Amino acid sequence: MLRQLPTFEDENLLSAAIPFADAGVYRIDDERALVQSVDFFTPIVDDPRAYGRIAAANALSDIYAMGGRPLTALSLVGFPACLDHAILVEILLGGTEKVKEAGAVIVGGHTVDDDEPKVGLAVTGLVDPHRMVSTVGAFPGDVLVLTKPLGTGILTTALKGEILTEDDIRDAITGMETLNRMACEAMMEVGVSACTDITGFSLLGHALELAGASDVLVEIDAGALPVYPHTREMAAMGLIPGGAYKNRDHYLPNVVDGEKLPNEILDIMSDPQTSGGLLIAVAAERLDALLGKLEEKGAKGWTVGRVHEKPAGRLRVV
Ligand code: CO
Repeated sequence: MLRQLPTFEDENLLSAAIPFADAGVYRIDDERALVQSVDFFTPIVDDPRAYGRIAAANALSDIYAMGGRPLTALSLVGFPACLDHAILVEILLGGTEKVKEAGAVIVGGHTVDDDEPKVGLAVTGLVDPHRMVSTVGAFPGDVLVLTKPLGTGILTTALKGEILTEDDIRDAITGMETLNRMACEAMMEVGVSACTDITGFSLLGHALELAGASDVLVEIDAGALPVYPHTREMAAMGLIPGGAYKNRDHYLPNVVDGEKLPNEILDIMSDPQTSGGLLIAVAAERLDALLGKLEEKGAKGWTVGRVHEKPAGRLRVV
């Protein structure tokens, strides 16, 4: 958020009290709060249907990161008048598929003429204010679970550079298209301490947000990080998106001994993700229950680290 802008004060604006909240949360009554988020971006794959699916799954993700259930969505579209209208239809069909799968409805939208396609959604959902999950609440002793592999920034950079084809990065495309719905349901059924989704600020940035908001140290086990096929190979070839360098510059000062970290670890940890997984902090005694629930629902989960007390607000890689 831009610091120059005034902040709103309203006792029902629950997200105002949450540092780095994934979505805006507004209480309607004691049992219900609206949870709202918006995101849109330019194409990251060539297949218009896949682009539409990814943009929708990505926009829905912040609702799931807070333990919410999406209800309605509005389409946001920028599209060049010179491009074939059939492409736009394909993109929107991809988005529709994912909104349906989420159990939500598209209630409208708005299209503007633009030099480059841009699509996304503004999503509204519901969350129980007493059960809402956020970046606040991770506790020393908790274990960290990540529900999707990393590497989408590196791989889509390689795709743009025509080093890899869409077939080469099929796993990553499928991963980006996958809703965080099942991961969200699993965490809500088990009960977890904190959660955020991994998007543009990379694992590094989002894990540090969680560390800051929960006032804990986040420890990441670099060897346990899951990555999509070809990610390490492409990173070694220098196919690093510009956003990764921004993330690195911005977040590295908060990493314990960050300057000593090898590039191959930093490249993965600072890679901006599109439609990334949930990073969940769960009490150690509920870890097996969470991993079991994730599997039962067809979602994935990797144990990637743990939470310690100090130095609070920082991240350590082991
Ligand atoms: Co988010």
